[in-house]
Amino acid sequence: MWDLLIRRARLATMTPGSPWGELPGAPPAGPDGLPLGALAVTDGQIAWLGPDGALPAGGAARLELDAEERLLTPGLVDCHTHLIHAGSRAAEWGERLAGASYEELAARGGGILSTVRATRAAGFDGLLAASRPRLDALLADGVTTVEVKSGYGLDLDTELTMLRVARRLGQLLPVTVRTTYLGAHAVPPEFAGRADAYLDFIIDRLLPAVAGGLADALDAYCEPHAFSAAQVNRLFSAAARHGLPVKLHAEQRSDSGGAALVAARRGLSADHLEHLSPAGVRALAAAGTVAVLLPGAYLHLRETRPPPVAALRAAGVPMAVATDLNPGTSPLGSITAAMNLACTLFGLTPAEALAGATRHGARALGLLDRGVLAPGRRADLALWDVEHPADLCGRLALPALATRVVAGAVHHAPIR
Ligand code: NIG
Ligand code: FE
Repeated sequence: MWDLLIRRARLATMTPGSPWGELPGAPPAGPDGLPLGALAVTDGQIAWLGPDGALPAGGAARLELDAEERLLTPGLVDCHTHLIHAGSRAAEWGERLAGASYEELAARGGGILSTVRATRAAGFDGLLAASRPRLDALLADGVTTVEVKSGYGLDLDTELTMLRVARRLGQLLPVTVRTTYLGAHAVPPEFAGRADAYLDFIIDRLLPAVAGGLADALDAYCEPHAFSAAQVNRLFSAAARHGLPVKLHAEQRSDSGGAALVAARRGLSADHLEHLSPAGVRALAAAGTVAVLLPGAYLHLRETRPPPVAALRAAGVPMAVATDLNPGTSPLGSITAAMNLACTLFGLTPAEALAGATRHGARALGLLDRGVLAPGRRADLALWDVEHPADLCGRLALPALATRVVAGAVHHAPIR
């Protein structure tokens, strides 16, 4: 007796080897779409899947859902967000539209530091209230696993508060929250002109406090106006001493050698990558580090140089797609919209975009128990009111989610 059985679904399993994944016992997907199948869940894990007609004799479940030929995919993974923050960057957005650059605003204490001021003032309850609707929006778009970064506190109390708010959100809502400590996001005002002293403070005070369970990984911002490769390298050495996996905002605005740095540590992911060099591509491929593409930031910053997707593809680097949800460069609360932009702006195929928000997004978080539909994997699922999986990213901001399943528990989407 299974806990849950979903029948008559079009299954995009997203297993490696074919664009939309393979369904055991079924012929490969044809151009017209995916075969109809069934999926059974026990104890929060996928117990069986295959063609409807191949259901084991006597296969029954406590709860049965007729998918009515809707699309069933792994629950989506948003592997890069800054969704916890307070304040507004509306005035800066106006200035940027009128021609000011992101670096100009940062140099005069705007940008990240303006969000730091608002975030420090908000407190735990204020941050929780401000952030929850942003996470709600992601869940309504099929997300079942989300990464959340700190990095808008930059002092001991506020960084810890941000990570605690992230953990609290993971208790309040049906979603897996993975936390990342991003202390090296900007140099805070109390350390102005003393970036190395700020790094000492991170290494001596913050890392011991976050490494004991509050943070699942460490991230930094490697860029001339933020932290140099040498500084990031020092931080990565300290993270290694605490056993914290690393990832990096790398090659977003310039080729600073960040991808090679994170690859040398066998890091989880290198993120952004618009200015990634051929040597950086080779380093990621050799290390098995995921390239995380963030087309929302590219769009919002009105960038013109896309990441080298053809080279990444040719080198076999797994490409994840994420929202980068943040108040300054990517105020984007939809992973399916990020998938659309990854296709239209960066040239991913629709199947690559879906793999980027499932299998490869999960790998970018070190979560190998999810991101594909296969026996033994966690039963995180999304059921969509579309027939063909390319429709998920072939549309923009058209709600399509019918139901999410999180570790086998069914959560119907709100009525639209
Ligand atoms: O991913 N690049 C650095 N961090 C964020 C932007 C943060 C901000 O501007 O508030 C990003 O683009
Ligand atoms: Fe980011």
